[in-house]
Amino acid sequence: MPNPSVPKLLTPIRAGALDTPNRAWMAPLTRSRANMPGNIPHELNATYYAQRAAGKDGLRGAGLIISEATPISPRAHGYYATPGIHTDEQVRGWRLATRAVHDANGLIVCQLWHVGRVSHSALQPNNDPPLGPTDVPSRSKTYIDADMTRVEASTPRALRTEEIPEIVEEFRAAAQLAKDAGFDGVEIHGANTYLLDQFTRDGMNLRTDIYGGSLANRLRFPLAVAEAVCDVWGADRVGYRISPLSDHHDARDDNPRETFTELARQLGTLGLAYLHAVETWNRQALDPRIDTVIPPIADAFRAASPRGIYVANGDYSADLAERSISRGWCDAVAFGRPFISNPDLTHRIAQAAQARATQKARAEDAPLTPNLTPWDQSTFYGIPRGTDGSKGYTDYPAAS
Ligand SMILES: Cc1cc2nc3c(=O)[nH]c(=O)nc-3n(C[C@H](O)[C@H](O)[C@H](O)COP(=O)(O)O)c2cc1C
Repeated sequence: MPNPSVPKLLTPIRAGALDTPNRAWMAPLTRSRANMPGNIPHELNATYYAQRAAGKDGLRGAGLIISEATPISPRAHGYYATPGIHTDEQVRGWRLATRAVHDANGLIVCQLWHVGRVSHSALQPNNDPPLGPTDVPSRSKTYIDADMTRVEASTPRALRTEEIPEIVEEFRAAAQLAKDAGFDGVEIHGANTYLLDQFTRDGMNLRTDIYGGSLANRLRFPLAVAEAVCDVWGADRVGYRISPLSDHHDARDDNPRETFTELARQLGTLGLAYLHAVETWNRQALDPRIDTVIPPIADAFRAASPRGIYVANGDYSADLAERSISRGWCDAVAFGRPFISNPDLTHRIAQAAQARATQKARAEDAPLTPNLTPWDQSTFYGIPRGTDGSKGYTDYPAAS
């Protein structure tokens, strides 16, 4: 008999071949603290990830850590100091992180990233323009140096039809390097209006070749990437992230429900381990379409994928996560900002559950309110000059 005082959020779940000890996962978080030049991960990054690993009892940190977005090729970069997965030095650097996480009884997957048009020529080989589905700029900002100076994204160059299979191969090669680096799997970054999302949405993909126009054409490239990555890993170690209602980087889509339900169905048919959706960043300002768009997408994926689960993200409190899992709306929840400032987030949730159990006769009805350290937004990205980068990164304390 399950113990009703143990929150569902703290129970194990299997996603494909990934046996995760709890359902509070860590969302991908770019922190721009790679060594430069070369965008190389290093010891401090390994410490940061190990601090957030599940731990011996599986109840200290994240059930699964999803790495920060990791550029798959030199042209996939759009921000300064983001650790890549396309050189030998980067693979060696990532090995430090995967080993440290495994030593701390954690699991970590690599989020594979191509920014597409959200980049600046200063970050591109030969100062070339970034690559996009078309030559329409993204009207968003990026940062290109250690001072995190914000600049407008450059006008992209539209990819030629024959270049698209080459990028599929770059994803395949990066997936293999992620394996060499010791990751437990990969998550394909199809969210937040980066390259794959730019192809998926009808408001941004105005191509007239086989990769644009109809929904089937717009999904051709993202699905080819998913297939290539599954070839390397097996589908049961591959996840895919979407953000159907995001308006980041000038995102537009006339019918996100139709677009992403079909994408979810096809990813499910491939047998992916999980579908991960950014539902919102702010529950005080929810997109009113959320209740009609998100559930059909989650259901389409779960119906099509034999062992796939739906992972929700976006301004979730522990209590909302618990209610959503209990009601079957999602199977796990990825926490982003809470994991930045609470490396032992799961332990804090367990402490709150214990306190609730001793306080209330019907403990399972009382809200779950862990004691959390607030995050400091000013230290999200980059290493301030003259510092070692630990502030706001590895110096958040664990609860007693
Ligand atoms: C500092 C920061 C960096 C982020 N980097 C990434 C990233 O690399 N990849 C990604 O898919 N989402 C990224 N996101 C989005 C988060 O994964 C998550 O969707 C967002 O923070 C909302 O979830 P939360 O309310 O639990 O923080 C980032 C968010 C923040 C605050």
